[in-house]
Amino acid sequence: MICLLSNQIVEEIGPRMLEMLIIGNIIHCINFSEVQLIQNGYVLVKNGKIAEIGSSLPNQTEGSIVIHLTNSQILIPGLIDTHIHAPQYPNVGLGSDKTLLDWLLTYTYPTEAKYKDLVYSNTVYSALVRKTIAYGTTTACYFGSLFRESTLILTDAIIKYGQRALVGKINMILLAPDNYIESREKSISETRQFISDIKSKQNELILPVITPRFALSVDTDLMLQLAKIAKEEDVHIQSHISENIDEINSVQEQYKTDYATAYDNGGMLTNKTIMAHGIHLTDAELKLFKERGTSLSHCPASNTFLKSGLCDIRRIQKYEINVGLGTDVSGGASPSIIDAMRADLLQLLMP
Ligand code: GUN
Ligand code: FE
Repeated sequence: MICLLSNQIVEEIGPRMLEMLIIGNIIHCINFSEVQLIQNGYVLVKNGKIAEIGSSLPNQTEGSIVIHLTNSQILIPGLIDTHIHAPQYPNVGLGSDKTLLDWLLTYTYPTEAKYKDLVYSNTVYSALVRKTIAYGTTTACYFGSLFRESTLILTDAIIKYGQRALVGKINMILLAPDNYIESREKSISETRQFISDIKSKQNELILPVITPRFALSVDTDLMLQLAKIAKEEDVHIQSHISENIDEINSVQEQYKTDYATAYDNGGMLTNKTIMAHGIHLTDAELKLFKERGTSLSHCPASNTFLKSGLCDIRRIQKYEINVGLGTDVSGGASPSIIDAMRADLLQLLMP
């Protein structure tokens, strides 16, 4: 649910302790395919959770903060960003002069390398989490940086401001600058430690996610070890796939196979995996996605900003693959999922 209270009120009262009644026009998702419009209805929130949704007012409202929506306001369910790079927030709007592989080396890796600094991490991550919540993102699937401690600071900001999230420390052992790369051994040990750190927080809203950056940053051996951890720990996996033609050609060269098979040979395609982009996936690769139950994060704003191509999402949906929307900050230049919707709409209108 997108909360209309200011951050200040939420901070003063505490996001989990609010009891409030919101009265007005409400859009309610019964499930992923059914949406209900309730005119002049209400949502009652108790202890930070939705207790009731209805069309005639409840009797017991004493002690609640009551908010009356105007006729031009609609309360909608919280938005989900299925792919966002938290450390890239300072780069939003930067880099449209490059395509993916040059963009990573010129802008992205140098920015992400700064997150060794934990004070800097806290400043950026607190601002980003507050911003995404202000834009209505109540759930996000975050890529952190290479650094475990810094990614834990991201997690603490998410917990402080009350978002639901999957959070990943990225794995990157190849094709990166000396100040932003890790050894195979450290990649494994830090991933195990990160999962344990997150689980020990015992926060029901936060899950760790195994996050190999993309196929060019890892190899089959590392992927197999990460797949083993994912299975043992029962955690999600996220990465990028088939975003850019040069990237796809490099994957073919490195793995001697297509992109989806390269990931599948490393055990990365599971029913708890979310792959971003998938613009250029072939029919055979989409069939493999369907067989493995792997989901796709569609990032339309990023696909045009980095000139990666237009993703024919209707073709992908014919394979009955689950698709969500992602901002892909800073491939996408806005942390708002509503902006990602607008970008997608423009693409759907194209001939
Ligand atoms: N592929 C590998 N890393 C990245 C990244 O940070 N952003 C995008 N859009 N694609 C990637
Ligand atoms: Fe991305």
